[in-house]
Amino acid sequence: MSSALEAVVDPQLVDQWIGQIGKDPSATVPLLQAIQSQYGYLPRKAMDLIVQNTEITGRQLYGVATFYAQFRLKPVGRHLIKICHGTACHVTGADRINTALNHSLNIHDPEQDTAENGSYTLMNVACVGCCSQAPLMVIGSEVFGNINGAQAQKALRKHARAAEEVLPKPEKQTQAS
Ligand code: FES
Repeated sequence: MSSALEAVVDPQLVDQWIGQIGKDPSATVPLLQAIQSQYGYLPRKAMDLIVQNTEITGRQLYGVATFYAQFRLKPVGRHLIKICHGTACHVTGADRINTALNHSLNIHDPEQDTAENGSYTLMNVACVGCCSQAPLMVIGSEVFGNINGAQAQKALRKHARAAEEVLPKPEKQTQAS
């Protein structure tokens, strides 16, 4: 992940949360929620400040952060694309949506889920409750259902135009269908 995507952490803000929420281990989840709500993920710098200024150990903090799916340790893009991988979506081609969008966003590293320019993050999620539209993806609050890879790419381009985001130039023509 490019360090250019890392958030700039304000230590005073972290101090303020500690003052409001508390310093003992029972404050772990609320503190993590406050950090994630501010930055969209859990920046390393903020995590270090929590460990240095509370009674919560690094082991406790990272244990909780990695246990709950709601927390992320990597920077998140300006827009989140959720790709449903519930059973109905999985069997009808959710993987093809991933392949197509990875191509559109020039994401080739399995560890990477955010475009280098910080525009979009891809996230696989469990059933979102619209199985009759499988396979599908959700950008913001908009559901794009019954789509193949090419349609997912088209929806992404349309969203990017509306949001004035620049998509990377794909390195070669996609085979997505
Ligand atoms: S499995 Fe995708 S919406 Fe239910």
